Amino acid sequence: MTTTILGIETSCDETAAAVVRDGTEVLSSIVSSQADIHSKYGGVVPEIASRMHTEAIMPIIAEALAAAGTTTSGIDAVAVTMGPGLIGCLLVGVAAAKAAAYALGVPLIGTDHLEAHLASIHLERKVGFPFIGLVVSGGHTNLYLAHSGTEYEPLGRTRDDAAGEAFDKAAKLLGLPYPGGVEIDRRAAAGRPDAVDFPRPLLRDPSCDFSFSGLKTALLYHIRGLDGIDDSTLADLCASFQEAIVETLVAKTIKATTKHGIPRVVIAGGVASNSRLRELAGEVLGESGIELHIPSAALCTDNAAMVAALGYNLLSNGARTDMRAAPYSTSRRSYSRGAR
Ligand code: KG4
Ligand code: ZN
Repeated sequence: MTTTILGIETSCDETAAAVVRDGTEVLSSIVSSQADIHSKYGGVVPEIASRMHTEAIMPIIAEALAAAGTTTSGIDAVAVTMGPGLIGCLLVGVAAAKAAAYALGVPLIGTDHLEAHLASIHLERKVGFPFIGLVVSGGHTNLYLAHSGTEYEPLGRTRDDAAGEAFDKAAKLLGLPYPGGVEIDRRAAAGRPDAVDFPRPLLRDPSCDFSFSGLKTALLYHIRGLDGIDDSTLADLCASFQEAIVETLVAKTIKATTKHGIPRVVIAGGVASNSRLRELAGEVLGESGIELHIPSAALCTDNAAMVAALGYNLLSNGARTDMRAAPYSTSRRSYSRGAR
């Protein structure tokens, strides 16, 4: 018997729905991004985002069902992102999911957005447990020890800005459009990563925590000391700033693998599509004999297939159905219990 799950994701500025069979086979995955609208304001405007989700959610669900060649009667469960994210945005997805599950008489499964990013890898390949999971997105930079498809133990997180947030803020300082990560990645290709020696925050700190806000300030002061920024200076700044973030992410990930004796890593989330992160992680982890898995770019950005994938794991484990949207991490294991 197969289990077909409708996944719904509305935590930030993507309205997404997907249909996934048995947690691994993506029958459809529709993502509608609001990035164009928010770029006018230089970042996500929560009120606009939630209003746009409200307009988009039903057509996107209908499109996902149609693209999967199914109707609502072919759906065995509904999985939805319940947090973390923007509360007004989450509420739209959760309300739609609750209504759909109630109307269809099928289970409703609430999923944690960050755990779902890690679960996305199983849509492309089989990865064994345990693994060290790094989730790098616009709002989060978290390290986990994944014991199983439903158990993600927090090991560390950013103490201030997330890696994606640092990219976005740096892009703004450099006059580049939102979302800034992609733009910095692109410009960095023509620049020298050692042109400016930006700090590598918390590198020598024994914890698996991150801190990126100082890096952004270092960039600000550096820019203030310049007469102007021509294309080649811009490329150098992008490459050097990117190198500082990427080196820190890779170093902390290696630290977690050593600390816990786990030679297997999954990197996921929007920033995981960064070309330099993929390259450096491949090199450094490869040299250390550590297995590395990064989803393809389409699965790194927010999508609902990953929500359905995690939903399948939870359903198989008798997931709770009583849930509501929450702006904070909804991981089943509390951060404080994680070994730091
Ligand atoms: O996971 P995601 O799609 O949404 C959140 O859950 O936040 O991540 C979005 C973040 C943004 O900060 C964006 O600038 C960053 O991912 N990002 C990148 C790249 N592509 C997206 N950062 C660096 N390099 C990229 N190629
Ligand atoms: Zn995300």
